[in-house]
Amino acid sequence: MSEEKKKFYITTPIYYPSDKLHIGHTYCTVATDAIARYMRLKGYDVMFLTGTDEHGQKIEEKAKAAGVTPQEFVDNIVEGEKGVKDLWKLMNISNDRFIRTTDDYHVAAIQKIFKKMYENGDIYKGTYKGKYCTPCESFWTESQLVDGKCPDCGREVVDAEEEAYFFRLSKYADKIRDLLVNTDFLEPRSRVHEMVNNFIDPGLEDLCVSRTSFKWGVPVDFDPGHVVYVWVDALFNYMTALGYMNDKYSDKDKYWPADVHVVGKEIVRFHSIIWPAMLMSVGEQLPKKVFGHGWLLLDGGKMSKSKGNVVDPYMLAERYGVDALRFFLLRTFPFGSDGNFSNELLIQTINTDLANDLGNIVSRTTAMVEKYFGGTLPEGCGATKDEIELSQACADGKIPFVSAEGNEKYDAELISMASCLRDKVDEAMMQYAPHKALDEIFKVIQRANKYIDENAPWTLAKDMDANGTRLAHVLYNLIEVCRIAAVLLKPFIPGSSDKIFSQIGAPEDVQNWDSVKVWGGMQAGVSVRKGENLFPRIDIKKELEELEKIQEEQRKAALPAVELEPYAEEPVDFETFCKSDLRAVKIKDCVPVKKSEKLLRFTLDDGSGKDRQILSGIRKYYEPEDLIGKTAVAIINLPPRKMMGFESCGMLISAVHTEHGEEKLHLILVDDSIPAGAKLC
Ligand code: ME8
Repeated sequence: MSEEKKKFYITTPIYYPSDKLHIGHTYCTVATDAIARYMRLKGYDVMFLTGTDEHGQKIEEKAKAAGVTPQEFVDNIVEGEKGVKDLWKLMNISNDRFIRTTDDYHVAAIQKIFKKMYENGDIYKGTYKGKYCTPCESFWTESQLVDGKCPDCGREVVDAEEEAYFFRLSKYADKIRDLLVNTDFLEPRSRVHEMVNNFIDPGLEDLCVSRTSFKWGVPVDFDPGHVVYVWVDALFNYMTALGYMNDKYSDKDKYWPADVHVVGKEIVRFHSIIWPAMLMSVGEQLPKKVFGHGWLLLDGGKMSKSKGNVVDPYMLAERYGVDALRFFLLRTFPFGSDGNFSNELLIQTINTDLANDLGNIVSRTTAMVEKYFGGTLPEGCGATKDEIELSQACADGKIPFVSAEGNEKYDAELISMASCLRDKVDEAMMQYAPHKALDEIFKVIQRANKYIDENAPWTLAKDMDANGTRLAHVLYNLIEVCRIAAVLLKPFIPGSSDKIFSQIGAPEDVQNWDSVKVWGGMQAGVSVRKGENLFPRIDIKKELEELEKIQEEQRKAALPAVELEPYAEEPVDFETFCKSDLRAVKIKDCVPVKKSEKLLRFTLDDGSGKDRQILSGIRKYYEPEDLIGKTAVAIINLPPRKMMGFESCGMLISAVHTEHGEEKLHLILVDDSIPAGAKLC
């Protein structure tokens, strides 16, 4: 590498602080962090940016519902306890900068950028008519809707019509098409077809870039009443955070264009069509790449707070450790595709890879060095000249892999695998495939565990005079594998790598990228410090039960305490209403219906002299004997219905509401002095 370090600018999306972040957001940020850390390990001068996207109607509405100002609302979610910043700190995210779109310098810069595009004729005034999805802050044309609903989130859209500014997106259609089809700008490649087929080829329409129906946004300074469309405000964060159109920072020349914007698949459209078009408009260079990763799904659907199906990263990190959670996210799900989160997968990954493979090799190796050599390997047990030459040849690609049997050959196989590892990891990381990089590292770790069994150190130790030298060499080889693995694992599980370095006694100068190119970086005569168990095994059955309980409680707590049935919008005329014959009824008997979890069978005195039978689905809420003798209300002129083999002649009136997502029914009981058959009117 030349004297001047190569630059690498990487970004995550800036998150909406409309709710607390969940494991899906964590996945995106952890993966970007691993790439940023990896590039630093390789010696690059990295700028890693993340932040929050704080404007828009959704935030304005949420703040109103919470009875606070929008600024107070976002401050709490971004800076408050267990907020966005806390979460990134907890997850050991190594961002160099954090931008909030409510930061003054950003707001002022957006006003200048908007004006610049207005002055160069790319923004003009018109009337917006169309569909708007409030939760997604997205405008859609009729043809883009799916079943009349938002194509991203499937929710209702509303008609919108207002005076607005438009960005001449259509003008850039050909250039954007060329960019997507003929360059590597957008990856994975499958996303290119999606963009071209769904958005560009049907015809790119100009984009509405201002709103007047709400206030919480960057004001258009030359036309009061208009606020800048939140996506224009948001996308330019990648440049304002480097000092574009502001004096707060001054590293735009150093880091722009970005090497990669890492984004989720649903916002690829904004990043690969709208963003380059706006950059072309202001005459700035385009980012080198947009990488669209997949979603972390729960029960097959995208996690979303409003659906109540989110997984809390805090709880998982507190239970299993930050590195275990980071590792799980990076190891399990191919970054470009969707993946299904499950507690079982999480615990299995921790047990298999971290406890059984990685934790095991480190603890067995250090324990054996302590047991057989009092903690310090003898001088001279390190890599031989032949081994270093073999490793060099492997690292240079001259010998791909040595596979053979027999003691020395087991060494050769292990050494050749470890020597090719850096290149394999690099190849994977350069494709933004952390899962593949980890796969390669774990193949070597698994090979090293097998190497212990093949060499049976415990047998060698029985005759130290004859086998002591060999035993020391075997243990040196294991230590060296642990070191190489720890260096290459550092971007993924930084805290644990440091613990491994400390346990195997690896000095700082062999913890870097250059030191893992060739075998033998570790000095012989190394002293180990056996430490805590890195990743304790988890009792999967017990833990799953526990987790489910916690998550069920969290799910319930996240849902509104009380939810009411929607109010009827259609009026009912008085005559129709009066046709319902509501009567006070005395409960003579009440028994559960066999094989039904819901139904109670009531025998009622309705004042007519003849018993009336009604079935009601309130078994969950009452003990039958508690209801006998009480006075309830029934509608008695409904046509009889058969339920579980019994005829039900009417309906008992109950009140219904939902509490933390659970439906609750209350039988309406009235004063017992009301005689059976009294009409309610
Ligand atoms: O889109 N799995 O913000 P956001 C994987 N403010 N990734 C997920 C996910 C899941 N279940 N849920 C969310 C925005 N994400 C804009 C970005 S950038 C100029 C503006 C990812 O908070 C999602 O795909 O809704 C997106 O990349 C990121 O979290 C932020 O989502």
